[in-house]
Amino acid sequence: MSAISPTLDGCLAAWARASRPSPLQRMLSLTARPGVLSFALGLPSPDLFPRDDVESAAAAVLRDDPLSLQYAPPLARMKTHIVQLMAARGLSCTENQVFLTAGAQQGMSLLARVLVEPRSRVIVEQLTYPGFRQILEPFDAEIVEIPTSASEGMDLDALARVLATGPRPVLLYTMSHGHNPLSISLAAANRTRLTELCARYGVPIVEDDAYGFLQYGEALQPPLAALDANWVCYVGSFSKILAPGLRQGWLVVPEAYARALSIAKESSDIDMAPFTQRILAAYLDTGRLPTHIDLLRREYRTRRDAMLRAIETHLPAARCRIPEAGLFVWVELTHGVDTADILDRALQQGVAFLPGAAFGQTAPDAARAMRLNFSLATVPIIEEGMARLGRAVAQIQASRRRSHG
Ligand SMILES: Cc1ncc(COP(=O)(O)O)c(C=O)c1O
Repeated sequence: MSAISPTLDGCLAAWARASRPSPLQRMLSLTARPGVLSFALGLPSPDLFPRDDVESAAAAVLRDDPLSLQYAPPLARMKTHIVQLMAARGLSCTENQVFLTAGAQQGMSLLARVLVEPRSRVIVEQLTYPGFRQILEPFDAEIVEIPTSASEGMDLDALARVLATGPRPVLLYTMSHGHNPLSISLAAANRTRLTELCARYGVPIVEDDAYGFLQYGEALQPPLAALDANWVCYVGSFSKILAPGLRQGWLVVPEAYARALSIAKESSDIDMAPFTQRILAAYLDTGRLPTHIDLLRREYRTRRDAMLRAIETHLPAARCRIPEAGLFVWVELTHGVDTADILDRALQQGVAFLPGAAFGQTAPDAARAMRLNFSLATVPIIEEGMARLGRAVAQIQASRRRSHG
């Protein structure tokens, strides 16, 4: 009998063999280089973490709750806090609809596990958060991309055509407020049309609201889930409004999904981390989160405006819209340079961004776009970073002119 000697790589499942690190992971190591000012990732500002409050909450939990380091079921009072938070976001729900997760990423991953059949059809936007595409990899799904405009969001006429033909998609993924990377919000009429279309064709919407509380208008516009509690699965997160290091998030879903989600969660990480969950609950008990979110909205708005001014000064030929929500400016260069080529030059200048193509290879204008984060850096760093970026773009343009003429 001949011995079988598979390669170790050959032992990986086909999807794992084919998978590549996301552009975000690659960026994390590139931008860790000393001296690089990074506008590449969606990191909240560490100067704004409520460290003193979290420290007191952690100390109180360790002192008063001897079982906080033990296995434990989720805290019931966390669900009450989420119901209150959702009411402030314009979504009325009950504790039974709330499912606690270790961040939005896990929430979406669990939803995909309970909703997606192998090789089924899933709808995403042409420009979208790469972390969701990554979640889909093991399912070998047929991914249908709907064109996204940088001003209006998802093209709902195109969506209506897709829904009217072909097999029923098992889910549609979108961000109705604070779209990543575009930082736009869907207009109210489009939110209504989107939810009606999906309800008519029986397609659950996974609404990623990671940035939904970070809207820069006067009042918070409600999420899609406020329009339809049956067909919209709302995904929430404390990462951008408190601290990503806590790894805490939640879903608001139809009660019919609760059992399947609990089983999927148990098989993934047993349950919520009791210690961090208790720290978060103790922080929420103080009632300080709404004031903290207001502070973030004011401060990020200031940083956003500083970035827009600096772009106007240092990248005068670039086009961008004022971000309505979220943490990014989507910048389109009007000349035909591929922003992936600019990135090397930018890193030499000590500045990093994410090229538009990281968010969708097929979107027509993505190659000449870049996503710039404005939450991490302070205003002086934003100004210095945009000056460096302006120099990198000018150098690339000058070398192109030389080679063309
Ligand atoms: C659109 C979007 N969804 C989800 C996440 C992941 O959030 P969490 O830290 O809650 O897992 C991110 C992180 O940047 C994001 O940009």
